[in-house]
Amino acid sequence: MFVDLAGQRCVVVGDGKLAADKQAGLREAGADVCVIPSREYRPGVLAGARLVIDTSDDPEINRQTWAEAEAAGIMINVVDRPAQCRFIAPAIVNREPLLIAISTSGESPFLASTLRARLERWLGREWGPFTALVGRVRRDLRERGVPIAEQTRVYRRLLTSEVRDLIRAGETAAAQRVAATLSRPSGRVPGRVALVGAGPGDPGLLTVRAREMLADADYVLHDALVSPETLAFCGPSAQLEDVGKRAGRASARQEAINDRLIELARQGHLVVRLKGGDPFVFGRGGEEMRALVEAGIDVVAVPGVSAAIAAPAAAGIPLTMRGVSSSLAVTTGEGGAAGDHIARLAAAADTLVVLMAHARLPQLTSEIAAVLGPGRPAAVVSSASMPEQKVVTGTLGDLAARSADAELGSPATLIVGDVVAQVASRHRPMVDLARFG
Ligand SMILES: C[S@@+](CC[C@H](N)C(=O)[O-])C[C@H]1O[C@@H](n2cnc3c(N)ncnc32)[C@H](O)[C@@H]1O
Repeated sequence: MFVDLAGQRCVVVGDGKLAADKQAGLREAGADVCVIPSREYRPGVLAGARLVIDTSDDPEINRQTWAEAEAAGIMINVVDRPAQCRFIAPAIVNREPLLIAISTSGESPFLASTLRARLERWLGREWGPFTALVGRVRRDLRERGVPIAEQTRVYRRLLTSEVRDLIRAGETAAAQRVAATLSRPSGRVPGRVALVGAGPGDPGLLTVRAREMLADADYVLHDALVSPETLAFCGPSAQLEDVGKRAGRASARQEAINDRLIELARQGHLVVRLKGGDPFVFGRGGEEMRALVEAGIDVVAVPGVSAAIAAPAAAGIPLTMRGVSSSLAVTTGEGGAAGDHIARLAAAADTLVVLMAHARLPQLTSEIAAVLGPGRPAAVVSSASMPEQKVVTGTLGDLAARSADAELGSPATLIVGDVVAQVASRHRPMVDLARFG
């Protein structure tokens, strides 16, 4: 319940800073505030008040104010005495006219103010004017008798548009122009596609932008490997389509995915194409981007934490390190010409990262060993950042056998180089570094 206290008589009982703070809060809400010092309280002084806050910390006064307020039907809060509170003052995120109230039912003011600080960082100052703008649009649509379903479409368009960014940048006139266009119920609104990286698996490794995109999307076309915890960030009305490979089921053909993205965007939807890791690292993001651009669709890429970065991190292996490695090559273990190509890369870079390494691990390690020798340190990390993460370390000579013994599965990433021997031996293999965030 939010209470309108403008011009209402409110009483604060008590002295000192707490009473002053409560008085200030009530004044800010427009109340007509009267402060009664503890020693001046007498039964009867609360008469005519809408709301009372007793900060006196005196059990006898607390008992009397509570009894008087209850008898007169006045809302009272006796500070730090939950049993003598008819209302609780929540922590407030103030983005007027948007207000968010947080209450822990008196259990932990600390948690309430911590959450407030987090929400304040998340919801910037632009949310105030943006809410006011949506309010103006709403009044206008209602006056014109626009049906509710169409109104909702307009609000969704406003929410997912660049209007908030424009307000944040101080470009109020441009924000209003965009809002006016989007508020025309019949106006055709072009759809958009975002190629978004989902990271290696742990939803904590999604970017803030990726989370926002998922929350706003009308459609999310995702790879099979994207975890349910990550998909949980999708908004309640988002349509999810799994277009990835699954055991026993062929993945949707790339052209079919491209066509579907184009079709949905042309219908005016905000579409997220959600891919494991980073969309542009062995993720076919480039092909999708090209098809969308050729079709004239508005497209953005939101990078993700690639397994090429996340897998070594999860195992505590630095990719570069002063005096040990100053160059890095990333490649794939699949594809016909892998052998030659990998040998050249292994010779050229201090650290070599090989994605899609699981199926051909024995061949890959021996091809690389032919160039670097079987003693070169190497590690393989599967399901990095996920609960089932496994790390196996060794040398090019013994890694494949060790991985087989450990029953290491897919998806797996191979890391080769002296960096592997620097930290990994003292690093607890199963630790998920992301959780220390
Ligand atoms: C088709 S590639 C896609 C790579 C992705 N776009 C990226 O940037 O991480 C799939 C390969 O990524 C690697 N990979 C993906 N997720 C992984 C994880 N959680 N742990 C280890 N390797 C992973 C594996 O090598 C897997 O075979």
